[in-house]
Amino acid sequence: TAIWNGLLHHYREFLPINSNTPLLTLHEGNTPLIYLAKLSEELGIDLHVKFEGLNPTGSFKDRGMVMAVAKAVEEGSKCVICASTGNTSAAAAAYAARAGIEAIIVIPKGKVAAGKLAQAYMYGAKIIEIDGNFDEALQLVRQISDTTAVTLVNSVNPYRLEGQKTAAFEICDVLGEAPDILAIPVGNAGNISAYWKGFREYAQKKGTSLPKMFGYEAEGAAAIVRGEPIAHPETIATAIRIGNPASWLLAEMARDESDGKISAVTDEEILNAYRLIASKEGIFAEPGSAASIAGVYQSVADGSIAKGSKVVAVLTGNGLKDPDTAVSVSSVNVVTLSNNEQEIREYIEGLL
Ligand code: F0G
Repeated sequence: TAIWNGLLHHYREFLPINSNTPLLTLHEGNTPLIYLAKLSEELGIDLHVKFEGLNPTGSFKDRGMVMAVAKAVEEGSKCVICASTGNTSAAAAAYAARAGIEAIIVIPKGKVAAGKLAQAYMYGAKIIEIDGNFDEALQLVRQISDTTAVTLVNSVNPYRLEGQKTAAFEICDVLGEAPDILAIPVGNAGNISAYWKGFREYAQKKGTSLPKMFGYEAEGAAAIVRGEPIAHPETIATAIRIGNPASWLLAEMARDESDGKISAVTDEEILNAYRLIASKEGIFAEPGSAASIAGVYQSVADGSIAKGSKVVAVLTGNGLKDPDTAVSVSSVNVVTLSNNEQEIREYIEGLL
């Protein structure tokens, strides 16, 4: 049908859905695959972005959360819990509200972008801030959910990856095949694992091709690249400020089975990409998302992405999530003029 009723409805046959599973939805998914004409020309590749920032809570987490919360409700749970750098908690809070159950979120104090925090407040989550990073928060909620009547909805919950794999389906549905390369930010490493699962399942059921999976960690949080956990990860891209990814092994499998790679991008590369996609293509994605574009630039430069390749970069979250970073790294000067037509006219004529 022409009406989009969300992921559980649309991809039902690919998801763990039975007659007891509520078809929860905020009409998530079906996000646009946007061709970047200017960047494609500059790089000599064919570059699209999957703009996940257009999901109901502004990130790809909605795909996994709709599935995880639906299964929690099916199993009779009254409360979900997660650790988060901000987007998972926004999605958990929204879908819990929608389903009529509670959400408890545990977040690193002072390290969650303003828009994400505002979402958790508005959706009515119980919010616990800790003096600790995401990895520590995740360890806490894993232990607590083992022995308490709360359902863990971080991506170690397998239903999260089931929901998130649908983004790979959508890319194949639009392109008619997989791209040559799927470029994606890596934080806790759930999403790269979910995409690979999705591409493999579609290849099996629909005969579509398989991409090479190119994951990008922030340099100050690049545990997989370094080959060891990082106790104190740091990056301006707070979404992926993670030093011990829970899906580490799955991400390495995605990399190795696809003949792909996982590498690191610096904060400077991330910020350059962040500004570039907004100013040159009109797409405002959050800094963590821009890691995929930063990575595409790096990989074209070092030759690991060949000229002429068909590349899809995932933009995982909306730029509006993090207004403080946007304002602080922007070089725009706002001019103050008097409330006077002549003065403003002269200023504008000077610009033309
Ligand atoms: N991009 C954004 C905007 C994110 O919020 C995250 C993860 C990632 C990329 C990385 O995805 O963890 O599956 O490798 N955010 C989590 C959160 C950790 O709590 O919102 P991943």
